[in-house]
Amino acid sequence: MIRLERVTRIHNEGRPNAVTAVDDVSLELPDRRVTVLRGPSGSGKTTLLTLVGCLARPTRGRIWLDDELISALPERFMTEVRRRTFGFIFQRFNLVRGVSALENVMLPAYPAGEPHAALKARAQALLERFHLRDRMHEKAELLSGGEAQRVAIARALINDPAWIIADEPTASLDTSLVERFLAEVRDLAKAGKSIIITSHDPRVWQADVVDRIVTMQDGRIVSVEDVGKAPAAAAGREGSPP
Ligand SMILES: Nc1ncnc2c1ncn2[C@@H]1O[C@H](COP(=O)(O)OP(=O)(O)OP(=O)(O)O)[C@@H](O)[C@H]1O
Ligand SMILES: [Mg+2]
Repeated sequence: MIRLERVTRIHNEGRPNAVTAVDDVSLELPDRRVTVLRGPSGSGKTTLLTLVGCLARPTRGRIWLDDELISALPERFMTEVRRRTFGFIFQRFNLVRGVSALENVMLPAYPAGEPHAALKARAQALLERFHLRDRMHEKAELLSGGEAQRVAIARALINDPAWIIADEPTASLDTSLVERFLAEVRDLAKAGKSIIITSHDPRVWQADVVDRIVTMQDGRIVSVEDVGKAPAAAAGREGSPP
């Protein structure tokens, strides 16, 4: 579980352009559940994700990952927690242009120093799982929207993270790709991953795979709704412990 205790994040603190993007938020993000963060533009969703995913630190407050106080870790330990715990899917997928699908998938694993051949084999296996065997040597910018989406998901999985964080993953996708994305989320949830998605998209928060909807406004949480069939449904999930 990830637990936020009175977390505040101020961008540009102490300057005239300071913005309190996340304002005194306390929240629990359960394991093995799909949580959607929604709220108007500027309500702090992306900022909250960066704090949860160890991409930024809170200005005030604490964040725990299970029993580890991650918000207080020195930089290099925080980087290490980020790499082993989280996979990220960014808006528009943020694939690196000029580089193949395969290399894009391998990128997040480079710092771990795994032998290149072993890493490449894992990346290839992931791409095959997402039906991209024939496209893995294609440059990122030449992939279709659906292919880029699947490469982005494969990249998020390369370090076998327990948590998947997706920021507006369906923005600008047509309905069939949204359905496909939700099907992948369903599979990941079944495989026991914990998933956080920010979304403006009702097709996402109304999806049956969603367990919890957290609504933000002006940096604060205004509601937390449990909409899933948990815990009964969760107990039936393949890959879940008893
Ligand atoms: N790096 C930054 N520097 C300064 N201000 C920022 C920065 N990132 C975000 N903000 C501000 O913090 C507030 C929250 O932004 P954030 O991106 O977290 O919102 P959001 O809910 O993700 O919005 P959207 O739905 O448009 O993606 C906004 O007022 C935004 O302008
Ligand atoms: Mg955002």
